[in-house]
Amino acid sequence: MSAVICGTGSYAPAYQMNNDEIAKLVETNDAWIRERTGIRQRHIAKTETTTYMAAQAAGRALENAGISPEEIELIIVATLSSDVILPCTACEVQREIGAKRAACFDMNAACSGFTLAYNMADAFFEAGQYQTALIVAAEKLSGLTDWTDRNTCILFGDGAGAAVLKKGKGRHYFSVTHSDGEKGWALTCKNRLAVTGKEPLSREYFIDMNGQEIFKFAVRKVPELIREILRENNVEQEEITWFVVHQANCRILESVAKHLGEPSWKFPMNLQHYGNTSSASIPILLDEMNRQGKLKKGDRILIAGFGAGLTWSGNILDWEM
Ligand code: ACO
Repeated sequence: MSAVICGTGSYAPAYQMNNDEIAKLVETNDAWIRERTGIRQRHIAKTETTTYMAAQAAGRALENAGISPEEIELIIVATLSSDVILPCTACEVQREIGAKRAACFDMNAACSGFTLAYNMADAFFEAGQYQTALIVAAEKLSGLTDWTDRNTCILFGDGAGAAVLKKGKGRHYFSVTHSDGEKGWALTCKNRLAVTGKEPLSREYFIDMNGQEIFKFAVRKVPELIREILRENNVEQEEITWFVVHQANCRILESVAKHLGEPSWKFPMNLQHYGNTSSASIPILLDEMNRQGKLKKGDRILIAGFGAGLTWSGNILDWEM
């Protein structure tokens, strides 16, 4: 009785920023960014807000699912970049789409956000509390990016993805989530005032990252996470059709595939067009695959997120659309 995806949607801002444009801001170049990350461009919100992107993705997911907003009982928005602290983005999405009956809240688990939102909705279903949920992951990371820091500004992009979930009749899968607060320092988003004691510069908050530490964490923990999810659910690795993993860096995805002895095509990638959109990367990719007809009824998909906290989390879902 796992949560079943019955509709997906996504939204990416109209403005696309390529690597050459970044090279005008910091000492870098297109070849370096492509080789080290796989990223060619990212969508950057000029006018779009996090709420706008979230509501667009949500509306498209509802349309894809063919259900009305009134049927939604629960909205969870995963984000680390809400427009305002209050009200939460989920309540804003509720208002925008007219999901009057829904209980709404946000959660922040950084790049693991979508997988944790899925796991949480699934747990509500298991507890018998809800039967229909909308989970959205939306990020406007450009507003938290230090555009003078070449270690980070080359990586991130803006966008949103959403999925409509229903309580299914099929097999229930157990989720896996881990956290390591000791390593929180490796990827932070802090108030500049708190860090320097000086007046905030152009941005109040900015992302700071030890790239190599995060890289090592990801290539070690993601294969462990995938193996644990398989073990907990008595599923053989060859039974997984797609490994839909957080889109941070092509070298991380290739390394994980290699560790597991899987061909890289089983780890689909769209980060070349979007950059790292944090929590939104997995649902944007799922929506693309869905709309391109790549996902077939009966496909078994393993989703795995990892990111700041540190956090890493995943689950298995059977595709029933
Ligand atoms: N352009 C050109 N040169 C650069 C750039 C740049 N943008 N950034 C760093 N360099 C230089 C460095 O100064 C260094 O030069 P040196 O050898 O003269 O000292 C050299 O390139 C190598 O630097 P590294 O930091 O070793 O580069 P690396 O291969 O590790 O790549 C990167 C850096 C892309 C950030 C990589 O570490 C990475 O992808 N890490 C994971 C980041 C990530 O995925 N974060 C998010 C995950 S969680 C979430 O999504 C929130």
